[in-house]
Amino acid sequence: MGVKQLTLRFWFKEVTRRGVSPLADIVPPEIEEYASAHSVAESDVCRLIREETYRTQDSPQMVVGPLEAAFLKVMALTVRAKRVLEIGTFTGYSALAMAEALPDDGSVLTCEIDPESAAFARRYWDKSPHGKKITVRVGPALETLRMLTGPFDVIFIDADKAHYVNYYRRAKDLVAPTGVILIDNVLWSGRVLNAHAPDPSTQAIQELNRIVAADTSVTAALLPLRDGVFVIKPKAR
Ligand SMILES: C[S@@+](CC[C@H](N)C(=O)[O-])C[C@H]1O[C@@H](n2cnc3c(N)ncnc32)[C@H](O)[C@@H]1O
Repeated sequence: MGVKQLTLRFWFKEVTRRGVSPLADIVPPEIEEYASAHSVAESDVCRLIREETYRTQDSPQMVVGPLEAAFLKVMALTVRAKRVLEIGTFTGYSALAMAEALPDDGSVLTCEIDPESAAFARRYWDKSPHGKKITVRVGPALETLRMLTGPFDVIFIDADKAHYVNYYRRAKDLVAPTGVILIDNVLWSGRVLNAHAPDPSTQAIQELNRIVAADTSVTAALLPLRDGVFVIKPKAR
């Protein structure tokens, strides 16, 4: 076993021993807090969503959290987004954060397979003046995507790692030439470093990362923000 793999194995043991999610540990928590404190703050309704998600849901760390939400907002503002597509609603946190960055006639279309998550999200969106910009489509995202027409200015992929490559390919058809594709969890708590990863999700993310890196039709940066975010701009055709 090489030095890198030994280091990785030690790191997983260490985070497991401390009983914390590896997700929280790619970036040291105090750095993440400092960065959040110096970024645009989450709205009151986003905070309420995050708090109830942590009180009531089994995997609350799935919400992107304040720092990545700030990043999503800045991206939406940078490309002057009017139409946003999200894959993976969960409790509605990131959809609302992006909606808050859109003009009054902007829209977020978000895909979620679980009707209970969609209902949770709607309950909170109704408390925000930006909630009216959001529509959720309940069902398998691949089916929903097949029926959509672009262009979308921001496409945020954050669900169902096994199909990441399929989502990426469809996102390229749907994204505006001036838009951006953002893909979450592309470092997968560091598991992408394991060349012999046994689980299908890690393998799917590794495959996506290879495909994006080799794709000459886009300009991309893989950022170590939270659990890793790919920022992907189509090149002018
Ligand atoms: C990581 S969570 C999304 C978190 C959300 N973007 C946020 O930050 O607030 C992923 C969500 O995708 C949903 N999901 C999983 N597979 C799906 C599929 N095939 N189609 C649509 N949604 C799916 C899950 O039910 C889960 O709620």
